[in-house]
Amino acid sequence: MNEVRVLPLKYCIPGLMRAGSDVAVGGNVILRRGAVITDGIIGALKKNEVPEATIILNSESQDYYSDYKMNKPAEQCLAEYALGYKKIKRDLMRIFIKRSYTYENIRAIAEMLIANASGVSKGSVFLCVDGVRPIDEYLYTHSINVALLAYLMFGWMGMSGDEERIELVMAGLLHDIGKIKIDKNIISKTSVFDAAEMRIIKKHPLYGHEILCEIDGISDRIKEAVYSHHEKINGSGYPRGLKGGDIGLFARMLSICDIYDAMMANKVYRPRQSSFHVFDVFMNDKLNGNLDFEMVTMFLERISGDFVGKMVKLDNGLSGKIIFMNPVDYSRPMVQVGKLIINTETDRVAVTDVLD
Ligand SMILES: [Fe+2]
Repeated sequence: MNEVRVLPLKYCIPGLMRAGSDVAVGGNVILRRGAVITDGIIGALKKNEVPEATIILNSESQDYYSDYKMNKPAEQCLAEYALGYKKIKRDLMRIFIKRSYTYENIRAIAEMLIANASGVSKGSVFLCVDGVRPIDEYLYTHSINVALLAYLMFGWMGMSGDEERIELVMAGLLHDIGKIKIDKNIISKTSVFDAAEMRIIKKHPLYGHEILCEIDGISDRIKEAVYSHHEKINGSGYPRGLKGGDIGLFARMLSICDIYDAMMANKVYRPRQSSFHVFDVFMNDKLNGNLDFEMVTMFLERISGDFVGKMVKLDNGLSGKIIFMNPVDYSRPMVQVGKLIINTETDRVAVTDVLD
């Protein structure tokens, strides 16, 4: 099937691609929709400082887009992702607020998210889930981020099947829907929850399950994932204290995505955690048997790979570039400061923040 995508000129191949939209400069159309891209057209676009063109991709030219996706800079991925993200968030807010969460509406958002996430490449995941979160929009931002991370995990784990993938993304979007049944004053509280409030908050997986049971077409797999996303492998989770294999695959995936995104969030009562503190917490969770060992190992390996080459601040006052992530403890990378290589594990130095 043909797709329409924006490509930088260096990926526009003369003779192989057609324009997906008109390009006009100063009122003059220099490229018409449907026209075959030629050397002359690329030259004219360059001369007029047009950096990219909308292209109709067929099966022959699809590979060039895949190559571009693999190699484009993280900032470009973020800019493209952000465009679709706004609409996804608007639609999700609307259906949650209006209680119009039918199967078709949720599925349409999941499909939009999958199309939007297909351009998220290695190196940009961290940027895409980072972001400012107004307190009243936290639920939506978090739900979309969890769905995006679940979508990525699906690929990282080598899972296949379009239907399975869309159900996982729907479960990600819906995992905290039960929170809409909880008093807004508690949900949007800007300080730490007390014990009574925590008891109420912990009911949200149950409420979510109840809401989903009233929606026609939502599969048992989605309902179960929402019900169990706070369960822990060692039985210390809630609401049912399930253990190990009694927790479904989707729920085990969502719990990792949920914890990662929640820790990355800037909360009013607690600033965003450094990714390296997040790695530390995950390593502990992994060792304590809270999370699926294999799955969290794979997740950390993938997420941490994004940090190689990034500038970080150290608690000894120096800043440097990460040159190697330590697979035994991802929170302790090797950092190059000028000509000096610091092994943060053996040199007892901690990474306090990521600078770029
Ligand atoms: Fe939750």
